[in-house]
Amino acid sequence: MTDVAAKDSLTVTDNRTGQTYDIAITDNTIAAKDLGQIRLDDEQPGLATYDPGFVNTASCRSSVTYIDGDKGILEYRGYPIEQLAEKSNFLEVAYLLIHGELPTKEQYDAWVHEITYHTFVHENVKTFMQGFRYDAHPMGMLMASVGALSTFYPDARNISDADNRHMQIVRMIAKMPTLGAWSFRHAQGKPYVYPDNDLGYTANFLSMLFKMSESKFEADERLVKALDVLFILHADHEQNCSTNAVRSVGSSQVDPYSAVSAGVGALYGPLHGGANEAVLRMLKRIGSKENIPAFIDGVKDGNERLMGFGHRVYKNYDPRAKIIKKSAEDVFEVTGTNPLLDIALELEKIALEDEYFVKRKLYPNVDFYSGLIYEAFQFPPEMFTVLFAIGRTPGWLAQWSELVQDKDQKIARPKQIYTGDRELTFTAASERWS
Ligand code: ACO
Repeated sequence: MTDVAAKDSLTVTDNRTGQTYDIAITDNTIAAKDLGQIRLDDEQPGLATYDPGFVNTASCRSSVTYIDGDKGILEYRGYPIEQLAEKSNFLEVAYLLIHGELPTKEQYDAWVHEITYHTFVHENVKTFMQGFRYDAHPMGMLMASVGALSTFYPDARNISDADNRHMQIVRMIAKMPTLGAWSFRHAQGKPYVYPDNDLGYTANFLSMLFKMSESKFEADERLVKALDVLFILHADHEQNCSTNAVRSVGSSQVDPYSAVSAGVGALYGPLHGGANEAVLRMLKRIGSKENIPAFIDGVKDGNERLMGFGHRVYKNYDPRAKIIKKSAEDVFEVTGTNPLLDIALELEKIALEDEYFVKRKLYPNVDFYSGLIYEAFQFPPEMFTVLFAIGRTPGWLAQWSELVQDKDQKIARPKQIYTGDRELTFTAASERWS
């Protein structure tokens, strides 16, 4: 039994043995290892928790991002997302996430200079990207090429050196748009466009995506701003699936390119970053407002999901969805409206009033409107998750950086409850098949 002040502890009685234990409560959590002392006898393993999907398990201490899902609050390093989206820009937010505080003017200028300086990739990266099939999914290309950067920067494995970590962080934030844009150009059969370092981060990305024969590509400022805001909104989201993948892989002390590549892989999945693509497909399938009630009935009968709705953490309106809804209006001012927006607005209205969704606290999440904006930019759906990945990179790296400096962290290695056979006798194939 642990010796713990009664107030900050949990007293549990194991009814199998009648024994009582006091377990310390710190930060509203108990340490799972403290349950290990609860055991039937010396032969049995200690008590563990069963938590598929980490629904109620904290895996780390973190000071990067705060979310209150019930109230719909999201803060990076303490700053509300609404203020950052309105008054900051993506590179400043990236600095904030990585360094923990806002930059001075000198720090900001040096940061922007560093990132801009590293936007180019080794020519061999271009060569191997060109080796992908003509119709390769850009997310698969991004995942592979980010991972491959570890072979170009073998020194990245020296993760205990702070300067070295900084170098890789800068490289990755700088090169993600280049890799993402080239994945896009590849699928279109268009030549890859080199970075234009006269342009800002997001404007340069748009140039690498869309430049053709003009000597300079300068996107409409309102579109640049809208995409920059989208990057800010996606920059971090505490221990989500892809961040957990980055941390889990990073816990083996592998280089950050390999860890971030795992994050890209996790983001590729339809329940995570792939949801905005799924939203758009869903809206197209619904086709017109008249079909919404039948679609909603199908969702309620459990035949399908209302994509872009619901969230593991938010049990209220996702604050990012509100900002995105506003950005959508700004973008449509430039590009003209998307008829799917009307379907989305109507779906949202109906769902927010329907008992099924109200009871389960299902609200629009960040992906409900982002796909519509991306489509207005003329991105094919396969590119949506790539945009998410570019935005999420500073968050992954801030979390990775925190992980490698956290003395509490160990290699990620969950327990299991074994449900298979035991102690069978093996018969060689030659005997089994005769
Ligand atoms: N449509 C219909 N019903 C839903 C939806 C949905 N989008 N989401 C959850 N539910 C229902 C579930 O069927 C379940 O109902 P039940 O209690 O009757 O069984 C209940 O709400 C709870 O849902 P869970 O799946 O247990 O919630 P979980 O936290 O595991 O899942 C998730 C969260 C994956 C986001 C889920 O809401 C979902 O699939 N949403 C659609 C996909 C999506 O938009 N993903 C993007 C998430 S945001 C991001 O990754 C950036």
